[in-house]
Amino acid sequence: MAPILPRLFFLHFEGTSFVAEDGDGDLSGFVCGFLSQTDPEEAYIHFVGVSPEHRGTGVGRTLYERFFSEVRDEGRSVVRCVTSPANADSVAFHEALGFRVDRVVEDYDGPGEDRVLLLKRLT
Ligand SMILES: CC(C)(COP(=O)(O)OP(=O)(O)OC[C@H]1O[C@@H](n2cnc3c(N)ncnc32)[C@H](O)[C@@H]1OP(=O)(O)O)[C@@H](O)C(=O)NCCC(=O)NCCS
Repeated sequence: MAPILPRLFFLHFEGTSFVAEDGDGDLSGFVCGFLSQTDPEEAYIHFVGVSPEHRGTGVGRTLYERFFSEVRDEGRSVVRCVTSPANADSVAFHEALGFRVDRVVEDYDGPGEDRVLLLKRLT
């Protein structure tokens, strides 16, 4: 996944990107997100990843809830993200976290790159 995670995300979105470590201090997961510069109501999650051995243990939920808390404090009421229609695990994860499918858009990220657009309202 390195091509979609250039260093800029870890330099310029520090306040809204987080890592999770296990008891040994090893990386177990991360979330990269940011405050929308276009819409002052919105925040966006670019990518979440949890290491295979830690999946299903609440790491992803913990990372997302930390993100929600931070962006809510910044006055954001909507969180958006996109995922691939083929990634059923990701869609299920986001629905468990309270996202709903806003739209499914063909060629959203270029020819053949369809995306599920997900949206969550923060209460
Ligand atoms: C998607 C991913 C981040 C989930 O992380 P995770 O730490 O395993 O998720 P959690 O254990 O915190 O689960 C949170 C909720 O999502 C649900 N969930 C997670 N994966 C699920 C799956 N494959 N199917 C159904 N539900 C799932 C859990 O049941 C849980 O629900 P609950 O809290 O109501 O009980 C992880 O599987 C991953 O890194 N996948 C590869 C990278 C990827 O696809 N990233 C998303 C691209 S945008």
